[in-house]
Amino acid sequence: MSEHRPQLEITRDAATAAARAAEIVASRVASGAAKVLGLATGGTMVPVYAHLVAAVQARKLSFHGVTGFNLDEYVGVAPHLPASFHAYMRQHLFALTDFAPDHAHIPDGLAPDLAAEASRYEMAIAQAGGIDLQLLGIGSNGHIGFNEPGSDFASRTRVVELSEATRRANAVAFPDGAVPEQALTMGVGTILQARDILLLATGVEKAGAIAAAIEGPLSTDCPASALRLHQRVRIICDEAAASELDGPTADIRRRA
Ligand code: F6R
Repeated sequence: MSEHRPQLEITRDAATAAARAAEIVASRVASGAAKVLGLATGGTMVPVYAHLVAAVQARKLSFHGVTGFNLDEYVGVAPHLPASFHAYMRQHLFALTDFAPDHAHIPDGLAPDLAAEASRYEMAIAQAGGIDLQLLGIGSNGHIGFNEPGSDFASRTRVVELSEATRRANAVAFPDGAVPEQALTMGVGTILQARDILLLATGVEKAGAIAAAIEGPLSTDCPASALRLHQRVRIICDEAAASELDGPTADIRRRA
C-alpha cells in the first residue's frame, strides 16, 4: 500500500475548526454524497454536532435517509446511562434531528457475545454499502476510534483493552470512578475502508498526536499514522493542535 499526504487545513481556533468540519459534513449530506456516515463521540465533536443540529432545526439540512455507524462503545455500560456513547449521540445529535433511530447504529457493549456483536457490526456496515464519510477525533496517544497504540492496521471491529491514558482522559464521564477497561471499536482496517475520512483535532493536548500522525513514522505506535495509507483524508486542526508540525506540512496552512 502506498503512502499519501492527508489534506491539511489549519484554522485559527477550535470553534472555526468545528464549524468547518460541520460545513463539510452538511454539504456532503445535503448533496447525497454521504448517505452512510461514520460517527465519532468525544468533546471535540460536541460543537460539530451543535452546528449540524442548528442546520437541521433551521431546515437547511435533513438526515432523512442517512445511516450512521458510530465508531465505538464501552463494554458493560448500558445505553441509558449518561456515560454511554449511546446517550452521548442521543443528547448531541439523534434526539435533536430527524436522524431515523433505526438507521443510527452503535456497537452494543452489553451484547452477551461481544465477538459475535463485532462481526454483526462489520456485516451491517457492509450491508449498508460501506461508509461514505468517516468522522474521526484523535486521542492524545494517537488512537482513532478506540484503536490504541499497537493496534494492527488491518484490525476490524473487536473488543479492545483501553489504555490508562484513555481511561484517564474519559474519567470525567464516570464520577463513580468506574471507568470501563474495555470497549468495542471499529478497527483501523474498518476505518480505512471508508470512502472519505475527516479527522478533527483541537487543542494543544492533541499537538503531539497530530505531528506523529502526519510527520512521524508509519507505525502502530501512532494508530492515526495509518490514515496516510488512505487517499482521501482531510485533517482539520486549530493552531494549537498543529503547533508541533515542523516538516513540509507546516506551511500548508489555511487560516480561516
Ligand atoms: C470517540 C472516539 C475517540 C475520540 C478521541 C478524542 O468515539 O472514538 O477516538 O475521538 O478519544 O476524544 P475527545 O474529542 O474527547 O478529545
